[in-house]
Amino acid sequence: MNITRIWKVYFSPTGNTDRAVTYLAEALSEKLKCPIEKYDFTLPMSRETVPSFSAGDLVIFGTPVYAGKMPNKLLSFVQNSFKGNEAAAIPLVTFGNRSFDNGLAELTQVLDDGGFRIVSAAAVASQHAFSDSLAAGRPDKEDLKLLSELAVKTVQRIESESAFSLLSIPGDAEAAYYRPLGLNGQPAVFLKAKPKTDTTKCTDCGICAQNCPMGSINPAKTSEVTGICIKCHACVNKCPEDAKYFDDPAFLSHKAMLEKNFQRRAETLIIV
Ligand SMILES: Cc1cc2nc3c(=O)[nH]c(=O)nc-3n(C[C@H](O)[C@H](O)[C@H](O)COP(=O)(O)O)c2cc1C
Repeated sequence: MNITRIWKVYFSPTGNTDRAVTYLAEALSEKLKCPIEKYDFTLPMSRETVPSFSAGDLVIFGTPVYAGKMPNKLLSFVQNSFKGNEAAAIPLVTFGNRSFDNGLAELTQVLDDGGFRIVSAAAVASQHAFSDSLAAGRPDKEDLKLLSELAVKTVQRIESESAFSLLSIPGDAEAAYYRPLGLNGQPAVFLKAKPKTDTTKCTDCGICAQNCPMGSINPAKTSEVTGICIKCHACVNKCPEDAKYFDDPAFLSHKAMLEKNFQRRAETLIIV
């Protein structure tokens, strides 16, 4: 198979997926001696026009895992907008040290259904968007080493006769979403939670509004969340004044449960 172009394609509100996809794209570009194109569909405006792919492309397609699957609010966009046209693809998910559950299986299935041909895959353990203490600083050196290994093995596979032979991806694309639990072990329901603003810190600079993947923060009054919140934490993470926070009790209980029970090192998985 002759690859002439590498694509990094991702949704990445807090930057982990961007980092992992970019690292892998650069490693592959060096080995295959071809240029990298980028399509970042994190922001609403970017989702208005989707690039088209063809058989000479190798597309590294990244999303975070939310509640054990692909981010629910992006699913129909990904399903309906991307046409693989036989491009080779590497589904890559990042997850925050609990588990990627069925996220990689779902992304692989969606890309396969969309006409991409899967060559390899990865689930990369990454700092949890909810907490500074879960997988802090990951993907780290060891995770990136695995992605370098994935690049080497993917190139070998691309050059072999069996480039698209079936891979064994853990999980079930049809499974239900993970139901977040609180510290008491009971379901923690925080679907309606929205970020709050500490108005003594906020300068109304607008960075949160510019970075909200749902376009839900009023740019003229950034303490107002006018639309849906997917809890991605882009606004919390990117606020230069540390003025955004969540105070929903069920959300905080889930975060505390994760911090209590998921401190062990989750492994990054490469499949090729
Ligand atoms: C709404 C939401 C749900 C999440 N659910 C999971 C999960 O089920 N399992 C897990 O290990 N990490 C989970 N995470 C953590 C993210 O998968 C992780 O932080 C990811 O790297 C974020 O990607 P990004 O930095 O590209 O936005 C969740 C994060 C968010 C914001």
